[in-house]
Amino acid sequence: MPKRLYIETVGCQMNMLDSEMVVANLRRQGYELTNQPQQADTVLFNTCSVRQQAEEKTYGSRGKLKDHKQRHPDVTIGVMGCMAQKDQQLIFGRAPYVDFVVGPGQLQEIPRLIEESRSGKEKQLAVGLGRRDGSLEEIKRSHETFDPLRDPDMRSSPYQAYLRIQIGCDKFCTYCVVPNTRGPEQGRAPEQIEAEARVLADQGTRELILLGQTVNSYRHQSGDTITRLSDLLVRLHQIDGIERLKFVTNYPRDMTDDLLHAIRDLPKVSPYLHLPLQSGSNRVLQRMKRGYTLEIYDEMMTRIRETIPGTAISSDFIVGFCGETEDDFDKSVAAVNKYRFKNSFIFKYSERPGTKAADQLPDDVPREVKQRRNQDLLALQNQISEADNQVFLGRTIDVLVEGPSKRELRHPSGGHVIQMTGRTHCDRIVVWDGNQRQAGHLLPVTIYDASAHTLFGHVVTDHVGPEIFDLNAPQTS
Ligand code: 5AD
Ligand code: SF4
Repeated sequence: MPKRLYIETVGCQMNMLDSEMVVANLRRQGYELTNQPQQADTVLFNTCSVRQQAEEKTYGSRGKLKDHKQRHPDVTIGVMGCMAQKDQQLIFGRAPYVDFVVGPGQLQEIPRLIEESRSGKEKQLAVGLGRRDGSLEEIKRSHETFDPLRDPDMRSSPYQAYLRIQIGCDKFCTYCVVPNTRGPEQGRAPEQIEAEARVLADQGTRELILLGQTVNSYRHQSGDTITRLSDLLVRLHQIDGIERLKFVTNYPRDMTDDLLHAIRDLPKVSPYLHLPLQSGSNRVLQRMKRGYTLEIYDEMMTRIRETIPGTAISSDFIVGFCGETEDDFDKSVAAVNKYRFKNSFIFKYSERPGTKAADQLPDDVPREVKQRRNQDLLALQNQISEADNQVFLGRTIDVLVEGPSKRELRHPSGGHVIQMTGRTHCDRIVVWDGNQRQAGHLLPVTIYDASAHTLFGHVVTDHVGPEIFDLNAPQTS
């Protein structure tokens, strides 16, 4: 009888990618995936510790499994991801039914950890070294990922894939746990990245999303040869089958001209940049140790708009960071008004143990104030997103079709029409009534309505078979 695995993933794209690798690895060892934790003999939680809320969510869902473990003591429960690296054995204290804890740099050890837990060994812990617990080389090695294994079944769309080009982060923003949980910044070797991209293209990937915490700071040196993100884009651009290249997340300070020129000159590279500003106030940016001022960010925005006009830019903001006054917050509001981001993710500051802010700056903005600032900034951003999406009304745009949307709507005729979803080159989400045959193709969709986060369209030439929408065919726009 096959062994059954249930895996729950929260957090960022890095975590989704890690889960994909772990599943691929365990499938090779004869595991089958189940979406019912009660049917599984191995349960894995891939966790996030960027904000406290994410941690509570994990403890909450693990609580549900406590009873299950009491009734089925054979089930093996493992915790992976950033919380595993951050809390290590503390997890066993808070959740005694957990059998093993494994950091993001030790994922290849999961099959062994499961076996050892099964054979009655004590609780298992496998984590990377802390930032002061060895030489830089040793620390780096202990955070390396095992990326070549891929499992298309684990992706939300088989036509879209993440590819990690960088591990870790060296920026040490004062609020952030990532430099501790993911270790030192390391650019993966370009040859490895290219080989992985070719495997993905062979598996049917059309859109490749390159991942790094500060992806545009990517750098790899081999002898005298230095590879930057712009060089990597040139290399990946040549791969047949890959039609779109995106990369997240960018660090504003490292948005160099060579990269802007690569985006301008390489048609497969999407005119879309996620460039978190975090705050519009220099006072707050300095306390966050973001490494730039609003003036530097502004200069960067001017360069982007001059070099690649029309590029969609999105952002992240933290509201209620230590010492943030109404005046500081108003500066974030002014920045959202000025830059009219395509969308912004807005977070309430959450103090994280082990960070510089937790050690040195009081978390002094009351909860209700954080909540109100969050709502106000989000309302403004949504208003801007919706207004700016209106320019697409009546336009026909090329959409890379991902598949049926999560909210599958049956057509009133009862036919095979379902709600399909995909993204534009500039990363806007589009939905329309279509059919499964369209999946994986580049399809011209005419937009008739727009909300803050979605464009609604229809496909005029739906009666024509998918072959005319072949990716190599001339495109309508
Ligand atoms: N509290 C709130 N938001 C945070 N982020 C990172 N750390 C924290 C924290 N301690 C946000 C930042 C980052 C995004 C991924 O999460 O905006 O860009
Ligand atoms: Fe965290 Fe700052 Fe690194 Fe982003 S750049 S992962 S916010 S430390």
